[in-house]
Amino acid sequence: MNKIASKIRLDEHRIICEPFYLPLGNEIAIASAAYSSSLPLLLKGPTGCGKTRFMEYLAWKLDRPLVTVSCHDDLSTSDLVGRYLIRSGEAVWTDGPLTMAVRSGAICYLDEIVEARKDTTVVIHPLADNRRELPIEKRGELLTAPPEFMLAVSYNPGYQSILKDLKPSTRQRFVALSFDYPDLDREAEIVVREGGIGPDLATSLVKLGRMTRGLKESGLSEGASTRLLIQTGKLISLGIPVHEACRASITEALTDDPELLGAIDEMVSSLF
Ligand SMILES: Nc1ncnc2c1ncn2[C@@H]1O[C@H](COP(=O)(O)OP(=O)(O)OP(=O)(O)O)[C@@H](O)[C@H]1O
Ligand SMILES: [Mg+2]
Repeated sequence: MNKIASKIRLDEHRIICEPFYLPLGNEIAIASAAYSSSLPLLLKGPTGCGKTRFMEYLAWKLDRPLVTVSCHDDLSTSDLVGRYLIRSGEAVWTDGPLTMAVRSGAICYLDEIVEARKDTTVVIHPLADNRRELPIEKRGELLTAPPEFMLAVSYNPGYQSILKDLKPSTRQRFVALSFDYPDLDREAEIVVREGGIGPDLATSLVKLGRMTRGLKESGLSEGASTRLLIQTGKLISLGIPVHEACRASITEALTDDPELLGAIDEMVSSLF
């Protein structure tokens, strides 16, 4: 019998304090219903719009540990499921994060799932339908997920190409929630709360963010996210002058293109 190393340390993945999350719609009720029905969740939306924060909030609300995996094009099935490692001359099985989450009834959140290799997405298929099974081929083991386990994946449709898209057979297993930047008032409320600045300044930053989001036709792939606006607020709250904070945390973060840099600088000047 092979030894199994590293059982999940549940406490490390527990979210103890309620994360600040301002709902955009009915996403909390839908995700909670999906959890109760043992259905997996797909979150889609642009960068920095609150997907990860939502998962943290959901994990806290459902009182489940949250195991997050940032997917990348080198991520293999073994990275998710586990592998044998040689320790003191002995082959010791080590669970990957997905297996750990299944065994312990945690929420497993695969961030940017489309970045992962195709074979990796296939391994979640039996887990994401009514079988709720994870085959661990190397061990000849078939795990059945307990009711507490939830699978959640995210992706940003804005980055997708024909080559990198979720297969219909993958996406049609999920309850899908679409995220986007909140309306002006709610986004300003988030920037006040997270950025530590006053409401007037936050509202102007959000207006700036929305103006940059209109630059898509001019070649800017994505405008300033809520995350960038919060970062800018933090710099300002620490005494960095507004123009310099915007330049460092928004303009330069968004582009290297001289024309776009100039256009965003002008937007900053028109607002502050
Ligand atoms: N609805 C919200 N309620 C509270 N905070 C929010 C909300 N939306 C965004 N935020 C804030 O914006 C920050 C960025 O959001 P988050 O990290 O969740 O983005 P994301 O969608 O996961 O982005 P990425 O795709 O780049 O990972 C959060 O740390 C949080 O401070
Ligand atoms: Mg995220």
